[in-house]
Amino acid sequence: MTRIENNPQRGASGGASAVSVRGLVKHYGETKALDGVDLDVREGTVLGVLGPNGAGKTTLVRCLSTLITPDSGSAVVAGYDVLRQPRQLRRVIGLTGQYASVDEKLSGYDNLYMIGRLLDLPRKEARTRADSLLERFSLTEAAKRPARTYSGGMRRRLDLAASMIGSPAVLYLDEPTTGLDPRTRNEVWDEVRRMVREDGVTVLLTTQYMEEAEQLASELTVIDRGRVVAGGSIGELKAKVGGRTLRIRPADPTQLHPTAHALDEAGLTGLATTTVDTEDGTVLVPILSDEQLTAVVGVLSARGITLADIATELPSLDEVFLSLTGHKAGLTDDAATTEYEEVAA
Ligand SMILES: Nc1ncnc2c1ncn2[C@@H]1O[C@H](COP(=O)(O)OP(=O)(O)O)[C@@H](O)[C@H]1O
Ligand SMILES: [Mg+2]
Repeated sequence: MTRIENNPQRGASGGASAVSVRGLVKHYGETKALDGVDLDVREGTVLGVLGPNGAGKTTLVRCLSTLITPDSGSAVVAGYDVLRQPRQLRRVIGLTGQYASVDEKLSGYDNLYMIGRLLDLPRKEARTRADSLLERFSLTEAAKRPARTYSGGMRRRLDLAASMIGSPAVLYLDEPTTGLDPRTRNEVWDEVRRMVREDGVTVLLTTQYMEEAEQLASELTVIDRGRVVAGGSIGELKAKVGGRTLRIRPADPTQLHPTAHALDEAGLTGLATTTVDTEDGTVLVPILSDEQLTAVVGVLSARGITLADIATELPSLDEVFLSLTGHKAGLTDDAATTEYEEVAA
């Protein structure tokens, strides 16, 4: 077993990279699922891969898990090359997909025991590992019940426990909270933080939610249509798109476009531009500071524009996208959410 260690890759912020991806390409016919992706995940950190439906997130995770073969490019995970050392690589990764991967008919314990055996753990070790992970993810009481009787949160915890059986160095979480209620989502977030803190795992987390990325990730890579459109720390990214967004409602609806125009003309809006939400009757203005907020109000009152409402919002993924790519994030064609049967390469 050879590990590529003579030249440890360095991430953007200096730490050693546990995951290093260069020029990764995967096309499906006309669809460029991945179109030359570069990214690094520093050891012991969480990288958020943020992107809308169809951006290429699952394709990326599948390539990095050796489930599919990229057309070109390279990736090294925990020292192993995805293309040349797939067997070794599989031993050091854990994966929790977007959909529950546990067998509903089996109990929590049996699920974990079975996975342990599949990973070649001796019987006794598979038993101990199952027990300790059930304990760790607060599932001991439910251990003997079929997983189908579990709540959404318990299932997700079982998924996470399953991905930890092989004590992975690197964990891929592919949209781990999509479709979960807020409380369950919080539980998952807590567990992910604990895994990073206590188990020292490196996490590559894909998500459609800015909030999730903010909660868990120290750095972000934003992808769209198979390409990286932005990257950096949350702070850097937010500065790029505007730290907050003002939603301004003119008292007179006919003043909507004049309001946007006045603000664009005043050049107050930092790096991103003003957008008009005609349906809602509001103007969205990205701002970076309290001074800009005050200036916005000043400009509008100088123009004699009366406001009915003004609210501050954190940027939504849509706004981040609009600002970074010039088009809306909502490419929610249902095809993108379908699970694909893998075609033989
Ligand atoms: N096996 C496949 N066959 C054909 N097209 C695919 C396949 N897998 C993914 N795609 C397409 O590649 C693009 C990226 O998909 P995916 O990686 O699932 O995106 P995400 O996980 O970000 O929603 C989408 O346009 C999707 O329709
Ligand atoms: Mg996906």
